[in-house]
Amino acid sequence: DKEICILAIESSCDETAAAVVVNGRQVLSNVISTQIPIHTLYGGVVPEIASRKHIERINQVIEEALKEAHTSLDEIDAIGVTYGPGLVGALLVGLSEAKAISFAKDIPLVGVHHIEGHICANYIEDKTLEPPFLCLVVSGGHTHLVRVKDYGQYEILGRTRDDAAGEAFDKVARAIGLGYPGGPKIEQKAKEGDPHAIPFPVAKVNDSAYDFSFSGLKSAVLNYINGAKMKGETINEADIAASFQQAVIDALVGHAMHALDEFGGDKFAIAGGVASNGTLRAAMQEACERRGVRFYHPSPILCTDNAAMIGAAAYYEYMSGRRDSMSLNAVPNLAL
Ligand code: KG4
Ligand code: ZN
Repeated sequence: DKEICILAIESSCDETAAAVVVNGRQVLSNVISTQIPIHTLYGGVVPEIASRKHIERINQVIEEALKEAHTSLDEIDAIGVTYGPGLVGALLVGLSEAKAISFAKDIPLVGVHHIEGHICANYIEDKTLEPPFLCLVVSGGHTHLVRVKDYGQYEILGRTRDDAAGEAFDKVARAIGLGYPGGPKIEQKAKEGDPHAIPFPVAKVNDSAYDFSFSGLKSAVLNYINGAKMKGETINEADIAASFQQAVIDALVGHAMHALDEFGGDKFAIAGGVASNGTLRAAMQEACERRGVRFYHPSPILCTDNAAMIGAAAYYEYMSGRRDSMSLNAVPNLAL
């Protein structure tokens, strides 16, 4: 069989990324230029700055990806690019670049859903993983519990009603003065704290077993901090971080196991930036093991935004016949 070599481009948020991926699972290069240090100055991602930085860096990132893979555009069979969901100005940079290369070099264009990319990171990590399986996607913008029925075929079982899991980490980190991005900082701080010190509520959504809600938890943490300050008490940041993180993990693992009980299957995967959290991974691993379910998780570099995962998703879309035209547009709220 002929090998299919895909150049993938990702620019939906604050990472400018390009990768070369063969047959969806073999990563020849995975170049990520992060803007985190710039956005840290503002306590979060500033969309206008993100777009401008993508423009400054994208050409170099793509060149590096091709060079590291010891290949050139002449060897590329398709260009995979994230066209949503994400920040519209940021998405447009990667998409315009992909369209320009596709048009100039007459290479097929394949639009990719960012969340599908996150899920497909698992195919890179474990070359034996095949659908069907259940997947929890937890990132800064999304919290989705998904049934992966086949390649490219998804059913969303549940999603967040308000804040995404990563967003909650970022907001709580800001409240206890840990800075942006909050996830890794909370995880570090939590290691020195007691996860059962403060009983923060794990929110339930009444009319759905699989939907999530994290804004109540976030408010509970903020109220706890303000209450302590009013009384002149000093707060224990490590205990807050550990207790908050535990509440998020309890909600995520609880929903995941509920879905496994209902839909069965012997495989469970996680994906997205929050999936790089070691405490979450350990809790999922243990809960899956108890049910005799195999647990899959991408290594941290494939959890946070990258283009290799977009290359994996693009491969399966390409194989199922997807081709996009020059009229493909960025869709900020694209549905899976
Ligand atoms: O997938 P991602 O890079 O971008 C989006 O598509 O949103 O996810 C970024 C999010 C941020 O909210 C960040 O705080 C969170 O993932 N995150 C973590 C960890 N590392 C990143 N959350 C918890 N624990 C971590 N170790
Ligand atoms: Zn993402």
